[in-house]
Amino acid sequence: MPRAIISPSVLASDFGQLTAECKRMIKGGAEWLHMDVMDGHFVPNITMGAPVLSCVSKGVPGIFMDCHMMVAQPEKWVNDIADAGGSLYCFHLEATSDPLPIIEAIHSRGMKAGVAISPDTPSAAVADDVAAAADMLLVMTVYPGRGGQKFLDRCLPKVTELRARFPDKDIEVDGGVGPATIDACADAGSNVIVAGTAIFGAQDPEGVIATLKATVNK
Ligand code: DX5
Ligand code: ZN
Repeated sequence: MPRAIISPSVLASDFGQLTAECKRMIKGGAEWLHMDVMDGHFVPNITMGAPVLSCVSKGVPGIFMDCHMMVAQPEKWVNDIADAGGSLYCFHLEATSDPLPIIEAIHSRGMKAGVAISPDTPSAAVADDVAAAADMLLVMTVYPGRGGQKFLDRCLPKVTELRARFPDKDIEVDGGVGPATIDACADAGSNVIVAGTAIFGAQDPEGVIATLKATVNK
C-alpha cells in the first residue's frame, strides 16, 4: 500500500484565518490540505471557489491543494482551479456520465486527477479505465455536503474492494475520520486520510496528525 498522506479538511477551520490555518497544519505534519468546494447544486451548501483557493496558494507557497469538487458540472471548473493553484482536482462520478475527458483536461492543466464516489455509489461504478487514468480514488464515508458527520462503516468494504483491484493507487477516505475510526480505514486499505473536525477540533492537532499517519504506515 502507498504511504500515508494526511489531508486536513479546512472546512473545519476558521475561514477568516485560512492561510494561517493551512500553515499551522503543514507545520503540524500535514502533507496536503483538503479544500471542499461546494456549489449549492451537487450539494445544498456553498463553501468556496477558485478566488479563495487562489489567495491560499499565494499565501502558502508550496501548498498541495487537494480540491474536493462537490459540483454539478465538474468539467466547468478545471481551468479556474488550475489557475488558482489547485494540485489535485477530485470530482464525483455521480456528477458526470463521461469522466475520462475530464481526467484528460485535468492532466492537461498539470493537476492530478481524482474520482470520488458517494456512500450510495458502488465501487463497481469505478470502471477499470477510469481508475487507471485517475491518480486517486476517493471513497466518501459520509454523505457529501457538510463536516462533522458520523462515519459510515458500511462504506469501508468499497475501500477493500478498490484496494484489491488497485494495489498501488492512492485511495482517500473522507468524512468522520479520526483517531476512533482510523484503524478500520487503514485495515481496509486507504492511505490518503482526510479529517476535519478530528484535527481542527483537537487540543493537539499535531498529535492527531501523527496518530493518523502512524496507523496507516503500521
Ligand atoms: C464533507 C466533506 C468533508 C468534510 C470532512 O462533505 O467532503 O471533507 O469536511 O469533515 P469531517 O472530518 O469533520 O467529517
Ligand atoms: Zn471533502
